Amino acid sequence: MSRFDVFREAGNPMFNDNQLKLGIFGPNVNNSCSMTLAETSFKPDFKTNVKIAHMMEDAGYECIVPVARWRGFGGPSNFNGRCMETYTWASAMAAVTKKIYLFCTSHVPTVHPIVAAKMISTIDDVSKGRIGLNMVCGWFQKELEMFGKKMEHAQGYRYATEWIEVVQRMWSEQYFDHKGEFFEIQDAWQEPKPSQSPRPVLINAGSSAPGMHFAAKYTDFHFSFLESIEQGKEWTNHMKRLAWEEYNREINTFTTSFVVCRPTEKEAWEYYNYYVRERGDDEVTDMICRLFNVDTASQSKEFNKKFRENFIAGWGGWALVGTPEQVAEKLVKVSETGVSGTLVSFVDYLEEMPYFNERVLPLLEQAGVRKPNKESAAAEAGMVEAERAAAEVAAAK
Ligand SMILES: Cc1cc2nc3c(=O)[nH]c(=O)nc-3n(C[C@H](O)[C@H](O)[C@H](O)COP(=O)(O)O)c2cc1C
Repeated sequence: MSRFDVFREAGNPMFNDNQLKLGIFGPNVNNSCSMTLAETSFKPDFKTNVKIAHMMEDAGYECIVPVARWRGFGGPSNFNGRCMETYTWASAMAAVTKKIYLFCTSHVPTVHPIVAAKMISTIDDVSKGRIGLNMVCGWFQKELEMFGKKMEHAQGYRYATEWIEVVQRMWSEQYFDHKGEFFEIQDAWQEPKPSQSPRPVLINAGSSAPGMHFAAKYTDFHFSFLESIEQGKEWTNHMKRLAWEEYNREINTFTTSFVVCRPTEKEAWEYYNYYVRERGDDEVTDMICRLFNVDTASQSKEFNKKFRENFIAGWGGWALVGTPEQVAEKLVKVSETGVSGTLVSFVDYLEEMPYFNERVLPLLEQAGVRKPNKESAAAEAGMVEAERAAAEVAAAK
């Protein structure tokens, strides 16, 4: 067991008692998670991100995970080409939010661990303990080549292992030496240290065997896509067993989904058809399918169609398409896999999220997978109080 595996202090939203935690994925990149040319008011700029974050805080969401991207994938949308850098994004977001847990997504080969440790400690101070770290090794060759030659896969995870060891020591020790395969550090020293106990939340989404071992050894949450509810249960059990049996520690899982929620099922699927089938950016989807080695020849037509569509619709996330009742039911099923929560994405956050918050969140509370949000409960109680006072005044007249 590592020195960081001690009790997590109370009050961290990532460990609250909501059975199904909710966050969003990629509000800092153009198109967020959908490879589409459909019209949207969504902009990956700071102003829009602050509006989204405030809406989320009012509704009681737990977290925001930004995407780390250094160049776009091409196609007419140049999907994810415009990207706010995530350490600076998180620091700015931290200063204007109060409750939501923020992650910084860091390609570990692009930043020295001493610098990363200090940036996270600084954001920990700005956010009053609401910053975590999503470590990614990188898989998009062209973007990592901008920083020099890309490491081969196994080397990338050896590097990440040494990187996070150094980061954790910077957070917890003073005056130490380190000599490894990639870093030689003498008399290391850092102030401030993060305020969070035992340390900022660590997450990773490696899907390879070295990636899953890395997540099991160091992180609090392993992120992955759901292929089915059954597979979600197996994956969660596998990760928990791996962490416990190999590294004597506990880990949780988290997934990603995309939402199209409308008053009727017909309207929801009509919009899905429009943004995915009519206005999907096929060029960028082809390119990403190639990067993911989707072998169109060896898979069934049905498989390829579904894979591609899921990518266009929401980066391969779980489909939450339908009426509020249907979307809530699907989310309850997601929760039955044992995951701690899901990130969600919308084509147009500012337009679509209010409806989801208003109509789906109360159903999740009724289903018992989320507790009533204290703030909205307080606001409702305030309304009841105000109505009662108004009635009393009217009766007295
Ligand atoms: C929720 C989620 C978020 C991710 N965020 C990023 C990201 O921002 N940048 C990136 O290059 N890769 C990202 N990835 C990719 C993973 O970190 C990982 O590299 C990929 O799943 C391949 O696994 P492997 O590294 O074990 O081969 C993300 C994956 C998931 C599921």
